[in-house]
Amino acid sequence: MSANELWGGRFAKGPAEIMERINASIDFDRRLYRQDITGSMAHSSMLMEQGIISREDGEKIQEGLQTILREIEAGNFKTDPALEDIHMHVEARLREIIGDSAGRLHTGRSRNDQVATDMRLWVRDTMDHLDGELKALQEALLGQADAEAGTVMPGFTHLQAAQPVTFGHHMLAYLEMFSRDRDRLKDARARLNECPLGSAALAGTSFPIDREMTAKELGFDRPTANSLDGVSDRDFALEFLSFASICSMHLSRLAEEIVIWSSAQFRFVTCSDSFSTGSSIMPQKKNPDAAELIRGKAGRSAGAFTCLLMMMKGLPMTYGKDMQEDKEPVFDAADNLQLCLAAMSGMISDITVNRDVMKGASGAGFTTATDLADWLVRKLDMPFRNAHHVTGALVKMAENKDCGLEDLSLEDMQTVESTITKDVFDVLGVDNSVASRVSYGGTAPSKVREQVAAWTQRLAGE
Ligand code: ARG
Repeated sequence: MSANELWGGRFAKGPAEIMERINASIDFDRRLYRQDITGSMAHSSMLMEQGIISREDGEKIQEGLQTILREIEAGNFKTDPALEDIHMHVEARLREIIGDSAGRLHTGRSRNDQVATDMRLWVRDTMDHLDGELKALQEALLGQADAEAGTVMPGFTHLQAAQPVTFGHHMLAYLEMFSRDRDRLKDARARLNECPLGSAALAGTSFPIDREMTAKELGFDRPTANSLDGVSDRDFALEFLSFASICSMHLSRLAEEIVIWSSAQFRFVTCSDSFSTGSSIMPQKKNPDAAELIRGKAGRSAGAFTCLLMMMKGLPMTYGKDMQEDKEPVFDAADNLQLCLAAMSGMISDITVNRDVMKGASGAGFTTATDLADWLVRKLDMPFRNAHHVTGALVKMAENKDCGLEDLSLEDMQTVESTITKDVFDVLGVDNSVASRVSYGGTAPSKVREQVAAWTQRLAGE
């Protein structure tokens, strides 16, 4: 095997076959082709502008790059592991098309700053795309919140029935989580948006390059200020993966609730056929597979984050080939998150809420006991601790009689606390309970409707 065409000057013979295989990244980094060509277009424009290469060479380079872009997009691009990565593939093809002028493209640049730039561009594009997917999911949740603002369901702590809440309120809780995810994206994007191109191998370059120009042309806010950091920083990818892990965790919690709610024991919701599958042996089954896969894939996002964090933690400055390993976790997490967001939006839009079942379950477990205690405080001026005690005795009585609090007679209640009046029944039903929770951020249908209106306006402006 002969020495590598692009860097083999000092090598007497080519690499072992196994070396070639461990070294090659083309199978996965070919996904960077568009960013790689965009970066080279900006770099060659700058080289021409600065008189570092001639107009003639620069124009040939740029035409060649456009040809390569078309070839790749048409699926006519052959890869060869000997050419290692996307950067060398593009350059080698450019040489085939335009000849020796191709060799001038790499002036004042290294693959180290090139790949750092390409990855930032790719992650930035992906962030923008995912932000749109997150917004679509928020809109699906908002649609359900609007439709189900007055639908009563049991609210849980410890997965034990706690107090009645509204399903609309529950949907809005997730909308808030995804809003924080979008904020995290925005913060990370602002920090990502500096251009490492021109850091060269690690030390900068002696050519009179204009880094402001390339940064601007590529949509970055400014060039990175330190060439060593420019080539060796992967914080932007880590921040992206940390966002992806947290967002996947949110998706997984919602997925878990859908799995619970759609079980025969709960029947709070019915998933549409489009997001369920059957069992090959049990004809009655309709499984919430999409929800389970979303829950399962959350582990992969967290794994991707850990993978990159561990890969980076022992690297001395500056570039190390280890860093080639940043790509697969980033691509995998991005692909999965995109899929999960789209599946979750579809599932939420399509879900049927079984209002009667939810409402029927929402009184079970004495979920209005807090309302009763609050009533004793408000109407009978009892200290809350005494009211808590009296309510406890009434819950015990209802439990013995195997009935709900609202099914106890006034006489029975008065044997526990003689001053209770018939007005108490006004707070005991689940509808009364949720309607009374009007504190800011509370679950009352009136409050949910206010939040729905505020979110409708906010999302329309984004
Ligand atoms: N494929 C490499 C990567 O992704 C490109 C940079 C190679 N740089 C080098 N000095 N060998 O990291």
